[in-house]
Amino acid sequence: MTHETTVLRTIAFEGAVAGNIVFWEDSDEPKVGYWLGRAYWGKGIATAVLSQFLEIVKVRPLYARVAKHNRGSVSVLQKCGFTVANEDFISPADGSRIEEFLMVLVA
Ligand SMILES: CC(C)(COP(=O)(O)OP(=O)(O)OC[C@H]1O[C@@H](n2cnc3c(N)ncnc32)[C@H](O)[C@@H]1OP(=O)(O)O)[C@@H](O)C(=O)NCCC(=O)NCCS
Repeated sequence: MTHETTVLRTIAFEGAVAGNIVFWEDSDEPKVGYWLGRAYWGKGIATAVLSQFLEIVKVRPLYARVAKHNRGSVSVLQKCGFTVANEDFISPADGSRIEEFLMVLVA
């Protein structure tokens, strides 16, 4: 089920579905998230897609949560103007601890 303000787009590349990108209202932290199939990594697709998506979704500040070890995603966000707003961690059910950045686009 999607909230009525959710914006979801399929990412197509050379005629195939490569992934998706989504905006959703998340209380006081409106969020963007994206996913690409492994075969589509490292081609500049995420940077291009997020850049285009930010022309559709004008909500600011706009937030993204990203695992610190996800260097590719941190780089994508930084190239699109996001900066680190805070640091946090999540605790999945397997008992592990994943350090993450809360990143924000303010303008
Ligand atoms: C993260 C993800 C979106 C990146 O997509 P992508 O299309 O490969 O990203 P781009 O090619 O646009 O840019 C990635 C940048 O990070 C760099 N990068 C990619 N993987 C990297 C890694 N493992 N370590 C360091 N840098 C990395 C690239 O060199 C590039 O930087 P550059 O333009 O300065 O050379 C993609 O890997 C993905 O969908 N992963 C699974 C889901 C996910 O992690 N989603 C984000 C959750 S916050």
